[in-house]
Amino acid sequence: MLASWYDDQGPAADVLHVGELPDPVPGPGEVRVRVTVSGVNPGDTKKRRGWLGSSMPYPRVIPHSDAAGVIDAVGAQVDVHRVGQRVWVYGAQSYRPFGTAAQYTVIPDHQAAPLPDHLSDELGASLGIPGITAHRTVFADGPVDGQLVLVHGVLGGVGSLAAQLAHRAGATVLATVRRTADLDRVDPAVVSHAFAQTGRRTTRLDVPPFTIDSEQGRRHWRQLLLALEQRIVLIDAYPGMLADDLSDYLFARSTGHIGSLMTLVNRGCQRAQRTGAERLTRDLLAQVRNDEAAEHARTELEYALQAGKATSRPRSARAAR
Ligand SMILES: NC(=O)c1ccc[n+]([C@@H]2O[C@H](COP(=O)([O-])OP(=O)(O)OC[C@H]3O[C@@H](n4cnc5c(N)ncnc54)[C@H](OP(=O)(O)O)[C@@H]3O)[C@@H](O)[C@H]2O)c1
Repeated sequence: MLASWYDDQGPAADVLHVGELPDPVPGPGEVRVRVTVSGVNPGDTKKRRGWLGSSMPYPRVIPHSDAAGVIDAVGAQVDVHRVGQRVWVYGAQSYRPFGTAAQYTVIPDHQAAPLPDHLSDELGASLGIPGITAHRTVFADGPVDGQLVLVHGVLGGVGSLAAQLAHRAGATVLATVRRTADLDRVDPAVVSHAFAQTGRRTTRLDVPPFTIDSEQGRRHWRQLLLALEQRIVLIDAYPGMLADDLSDYLFARSTGHIGSLMTLVNRGCQRAQRTGAERLTRDLLAQVRNDEAAEHARTELEYALQAGKATSRPRSARAAR
């Protein structure tokens, strides 16, 4: 079969192979699924990158846990009538080496759930990890029947499933979306009341703004950016992405306010993931709107930074690059 796999952890371009591997054979209690759509999740790329120090759990990994497809073979003790059934698959590469980034995947019988005809393969391949995550967020503390459940970001993958699960379990669902214009996209059959948020409302912090008119101020700004870039999980992020290459730009866009900086960086990272850019650049961030206060304040400061009348980088960092 045609498959994608890795034998070492690292960036996709360095470690992912595409080629022929032997067709897998279902063992007792297992089914084989001919994959039509393979679902990739943040967790899949994090495992490949050795996130939080995780090591290779198996000598070879075919990534991706989620998929949609059709059962084309079954092992012993499995109902042969399942052959030909459209299914959605979860957990194929959870505590197992060979996931769904391949023409065939083998999984325990119960991890291939029937996929009704009116649901697309793309949707089926999106249900696994987001669905398990949503289920956990709603039911981790017990039943929600008769309770109020608040779902932040109800238009997202996990949020939309969480809202549906909570509604189905008898809860009254309240939800947030980012913008007022998104309120129309919320399903009133699931969500009783939806509210629009802004970054400013959710990031109010009692931290005085950073300043760049002294060497100490610039050093603090740089330390903040260095700390922040450690936490950014983008495939093509690199040391110095914020603290060297975007220092002035980020200062101008946030005017040193940590709330505005976090809003911009968060939205930039989401855009970098959605578009596949996988790193933060000026061009990408230029397409991201920051909160209103920051947008107003940035114009004047940008002029000063571009004209060389001000800089956000300490002397030592300017000398290094
Ligand atoms: N996907 C998974 O399998 C998985 C697994 C484990 C944990 N998680 C975690 O679950 C969370 C959601 O992940 P996801 O995959 O569902 O992401 P997603 O599809 O990008 O959904 C996030 C949603 O939140 C909205 N949002 C962002 N900021 C908001 C704000 N201030 N107010 C209201 N809505 C806001 C986004 O709106 P815009 O589109 O307008 O930005 C988007 O609709 C993340 O924290 C993720 O790390 C996800």
